This record gives sequence, structure tokens and C-alpha cells, in this order.
Amino acid sequence: MPAQFLLPAPRRQLYNDEAGVVLNKPQHASGGKRLIPTSKTAPPKAFISGITGQDGSYLAEFLLAKGYEVHGIIRRASTFNTDRLDHIYSDPHEPETALQLHYGDLANASSLGRLINQIQPDEIYNLGAQSHVRVSFDQAEYTADIVATGALRLLEVFRDHVRETGRQPRFYQAGSSEMFGASRPPQNETTPFYPRSPYAVSKAAAHWYAVNQREAHNLFICNGILFNHESPRRGETFVTRKITRALGRIKFGLQDKLYLGNLDARRDWGHAADYVRAMWLMLQQDSPDDYVIATGESHSVREFLDLAASVAGVNWRSCVDIDPRYFRPTEVDFLQGDSSKARQILGWRAEISFEEMVRAMVESDLELARQERTLLEAGHQVNPRGRVHG
Ligand code: NAP
Ligand code: GDD
Repeated sequence: MPAQFLLPAPRRQLYNDEAGVVLNKPQHASGGKRLIPTSKTAPPKAFISGITGQDGSYLAEFLLAKGYEVHGIIRRASTFNTDRLDHIYSDPHEPETALQLHYGDLANASSLGRLINQIQPDEIYNLGAQSHVRVSFDQAEYTADIVATGALRLLEVFRDHVRETGRQPRFYQAGSSEMFGASRPPQNETTPFYPRSPYAVSKAAAHWYAVNQREAHNLFICNGILFNHESPRRGETFVTRKITRALGRIKFGLQDKLYLGNLDARRDWGHAADYVRAMWLMLQQDSPDDYVIATGESHSVREFLDLAASVAGVNWRSCVDIDPRYFRPTEVDFLQGDSSKARQILGWRAEISFEEMVRAMVESDLELARQERTLLEAGHQVNPRGRVHG
């Protein structure tokens, strides 16, 4: 059996956008030319690094719904890091479990090699990363090791696997609009990269490793250059989720203040559920290529705040303060993508609007705050998670 979409009650409440926005959306098969790649008896297999992240969890759901067997790597952590997957995970002792998790790390090439040879995936999605731009200024070397060299490790494993087995799996590399950095908008596939952070430099290196492997060894490798995409599952230190989480808590009297950095930065924000579909479509084409994925609409952080606060019914001007600690040494001021190529070749377009996405995030975080308030009023102690991260 593929995915199990019967969400246990608490999880369903945690991600309460999903029933409408993601799981019940019609699946798009248009545009892709390699629809369900293998035979009727053997389901296609996907391997995902970064499966515990926002995109990994949406991609796993998407592929399971298409009948894939999905394998993901998780890192050993002293606290559980599989919250975003718990609702689709079933006990491996049950027959025909379609989602399988393995310990693995982009820092560890030999274990990646073993896993790829064992699993023999048809599609490999490299989503694993130290993905926080501000953190990359403090941890530049580590970010380069995972984002740039980590991608190279997986690409090398992929190349060896193809050479040794004669199989023809396909590889997706998670590139980023951060690579455009200071280049003028609108940005498309021909816009020069001008990275403005160690994270962006590392993503640009990974991009070129992928292009070079494709050209040098004739491998099926695609770079997706994805602009910002969000959801109720977004990590809580990215600005959108930081805002919606705080607005929920302020609305329910659990918090007074929200500290932010640069409110003038502009981003092209889409919904993660739309963007994972684009990843898959890239790997269904006749030949590998690179694609910009974006909505084409740009908003400032202030505009996001305005809309989210009006949905939440909170006057943000009385509770938001600026803390320079959230400024970046070098900022990316203006991202706005032009995804005409993806529209023409992949048949892809964003289906969830900015307004729908913001509303879904606010509503989900209002529900989370309401649950916290209920616990508090019943005499339980409520410690908000992640306060140390800001
Ligand atoms: P995310 O929520 O931060 O998830 C990152 C994932 O990478 C997590 O599963 C994390 O595992 C994993 N990871 C971190 N270090 C790793 C390592 N050493 N080895 C293996 N896995 C590791 O990021 P996301 O938003 O889903 O983004 C997915 C990918 O797309 C990332 O490569 C990101 O840089 C890129 N991207 C994102 C956006 C966006 O707007 N979301 C836009 C463009 C590109 P843990 O759970 O154990 O930490
Ligand atoms: N995180 C954060 N926290 N950002 C803030 C804050 C704050 O308190 N206040 C203002 N910002 C501004 C940042 O300076 C930036 O200009 C903008 O909000 C967006 O920041 P993030 O949400 O952290 O995302 P990002 O654009 O830096 O990076 C995300 O998108 C990239 C694609 O363009 C990440 O998901 C990257 O992994 C991804 O590649």
C-alpha cells in the first residue's frame, strides 16, 4: 500500500492546512513525458535527502500518492526530527510499507554509496542542506561542507552507481534563488549568479558541480532554481513562519513582542506543495535541464506582515520591534522570478496564491496557539519550542 493519509488527530491539527491545500488537490500529470517510469509490478523508487524538512515531507507525500516507494535519509539526533513525516510513516514491520527511512548524512559518502546501491532508486532528490542564510554567516565552513561538498558527494555516488550498474536513474539538485543574490529582478535561467552569503555561494558551487557532471558524464541531472516557498510546515526561524507563529501567540495572549530584522527585503513567495510538483516534473522530461520555479510576484517582508496580521486580527505595529541581530552582513534585497521556461516546457504553474498561502499559515498557527492556550488554562505548563533560535 502506498501512502496512508489518515492523519491522527493531533497531527492533523498541527498542519491544519493540508486537507484542503495539499492532499486533496488534484495531482498534475500534464507536462511530464515520463509518467510513472517503471513496470506495473515494481513501483518506481525515489531516494530523498532532506526528507525530514519542509520540502522533503511534501515531496514524500506527493510521490507516495503517485505510487512510488520512497526512501529517505534521516540524521541521528538526540531529539526526534521526524515530526513532519509522522503522519505518513507506518511501522516497517507492516507488509508493503511504502515509506522507508535510513540513517544517513551528506557528510558521509560511504553510507550514501551503500544506500544508493542497496535501494537502486529511479529518482534521487538532493534536498538536504543547512538551509538558513543568516546561520551560514556564522557557520560558513559547515554550510559549504553540506550544501556544496555534500551535493558533490551524492553526485559522485550517483555517477559511480550509473557506471557500475548500467542503470539510468535521474537526479534532482535543489538550487536556490539566493544564487542570484544581487542580480537585478526579474531573474531567470540566464541571469548571472551573484551570491551574497556563504549559503548562496555553496548552492552556486553545487549547481555547477551538477551541470559539470551532466555534461562530462552524460548523466540525467536537473537543477531546480527555486524561489522562496513556504507552508505551515516551514521552519520556525524563516521569516514567514516566524511571523505567523508569533502572531498566533500574540493573538492568544501567550507572547507580547516579535523581533524582526529587515522589513524592506522583497521575496517571491510560493507554496511548497506547488514547488515539489515542479521537482518531479523536471525528472519526467526526455532530457535534463535547469529551471527557475517562481510565482513571478514579489512582496516585501512588511507586506507579508500586513497581510498576515490582518488575517490574524492583530495590530502588528504595536508589537513588532526591529532587532539588528537579524540583519545580514550582506542582504539579498529583491527576488522576483521569471519561470516562463518551466511554464512552457514542464507545464508547471503555481496554483496556490500568495494570499491563500498566507491565510493557510496564519490559520494553522492560530490553531496551534489556541491549543497552547487551552493547555495553559487547564493548568498545564506550556514551553514554546525553539525560543533559543529566535
Ligand atoms: P529545511 O526545512 O531546512 O530542511 C533541510 C533538510 O536537510 C532537513 O531534512 C535536514 O535534516 C536536512 N539536512 C541538514 N543537514 C543535513 C546533512 N548533513 N545531511 C543530510 N541531510 C541534512 O529546508 P527546505 O525548505 O525543505 O528546503 C529543501 C532544500 O531546498 C534545501 O536544500 C534548501 O536549501 C533548498 N531551497 C529551499 C527553498 C525554500 O524556500 N524552502 C528555496 C530554494 C532552495 P534535519 O531535519 O535533521 O535537520
Ligand atoms: N529569518 C529571518 N528572521 N529573516 C528576516 C527577519 C527575521 O527575523 N527579519 C527580516 N528578515 C528578512 C531577511 O533579511 C530576508 O531578506 C528575508 O526576510 C527572508 O529571510 P528568510 O525567511 O530567512 O529566507 P531567505 O530568503 O533568506 O532564504 C530562504 O529562501 C531561499 C530561496 O531564496 C531559505 O529557504 C533558503 O534555504 C532558500 O534557498
